Amino acid sequence: MTDVFMQTYHRLPVSFVSGEGTWLKDKAGKRYLDFTAGIGVNCLGHAYPALVKAITEQAAKFNHVSNYYQSEVSLEFAEKLVAACAPVGMRKVFFGNSGAEANEGACKIARKYSLRKYGPGRHTIVSLKGSFHGRTITTLSATGQEQFHKDFGPFTEGFRFIPPGDLEALDRSLDPASVAGLLMEVIQGESGVFPLDPAYIAAAAKLCADRDILLMFDEIQCGVGRTGTFLAGEAYQVKADIVTLAKGLSAGVPVGAVLAGEKAAAVLGIGDHGSTFGGNPLAAAAGLLVLETVRDPRFLAEIVRKGERFQTVLAGWRHPQIREIRGRGLMIGVDICIEARPVLEKALDQGLLILSAGTKTLRFLPPYSISDAEIDQGLEILRGVLDKS
Ligand SMILES: Cc1ncc(COP(=O)(O)O)c(C=O)c1O
Repeated sequence: MTDVFMQTYHRLPVSFVSGEGTWLKDKAGKRYLDFTAGIGVNCLGHAYPALVKAITEQAAKFNHVSNYYQSEVSLEFAEKLVAACAPVGMRKVFFGNSGAEANEGACKIARKYSLRKYGPGRHTIVSLKGSFHGRTITTLSATGQEQFHKDFGPFTEGFRFIPPGDLEALDRSLDPASVAGLLMEVIQGESGVFPLDPAYIAAAAKLCADRDILLMFDEIQCGVGRTGTFLAGEAYQVKADIVTLAKGLSAGVPVGAVLAGEKAAAVLGIGDHGSTFGGNPLAAAAGLLVLETVRDPRFLAEIVRKGERFQTVLAGWRHPQIREIRGRGLMIGVDICIEARPVLEKALDQGLLILSAGTKTLRFLPPYSISDAEIDQGLEILRGVLDKS
């Protein structure tokens, strides 16, 4: 079935033909409850009528005009996104198509900011062990997990990793003579859903401000409402200099965004950066609908409530196979005592889609529209699988 693809993905043996809300259907008509939202992308659920309408209405006008010109829908999307990110200090946005591209943009901004202000040699980007920032050579250079580095060197020069939570290492590594930026996920997603300690984030923000090092939050997985605030960073009461977004931002239409605050908003000038598809009208029309829907405080409060339901139900089992439950809102990691992959496979058989993170962590990133009954139904399936594992 998949011979034509390069074998980069360990795909599960299912092919979907349609979806609705939290459900996907395969060719045989079997239904699957989706706790993955396409790795945190389909935040409004499948075939959400208002999203289908927004996309089809835009497609009937035009999908794309290139960034040589302007379009009202892209401008409105940019304005509303910057407004949504204003609470953490954002002023301007650049659109690309993916998370990796957004982080590439962030690194470019940090380097140019530092070069123009302090001259050559102050170009290092510090990031955290256990982080995930993308698959391009430069974003791999910023990704603090050895397993992704194998076979692809040499990497972009000027990246350094520190252990998350270690205040001394943070202080030591943020050398104002050589460091341009600090890049971090406030909740590390790919490595297992590890929220950073608020005291650590506060210390990082202070050190960066004191030393004029750009603080860059990668909110590609944890942003756009996933944790119950529009940006996960809002909960920490700190202002970043740069924020990157992708995944749920256009609910399934590819998009990435790098946003910059006061210090860095004017760093990139004409010709410094570009992206053919970046923020095109189709992605913008979808993104506008996401912003309208997700920014409603009642909608965000529901994400928090549903996340608590997940965690309460899971904790209530006191299941011998569960070691720890972590996360915020609808971004949840569950450490188990056994390998995650067979659990994913058995859950698939039973009609439940879940993700893993690392080898022994299950990860849930369901659509925000998931109902209480669907949460309970999916968790019951999982419980049955864990009971028999
Ligand atoms: C935190 C984080 N940053 C960056 C990326 C890379 O995003 P993309 O796959 O869209 O390039 C991901 C993807 O999982 C992510 O979770």
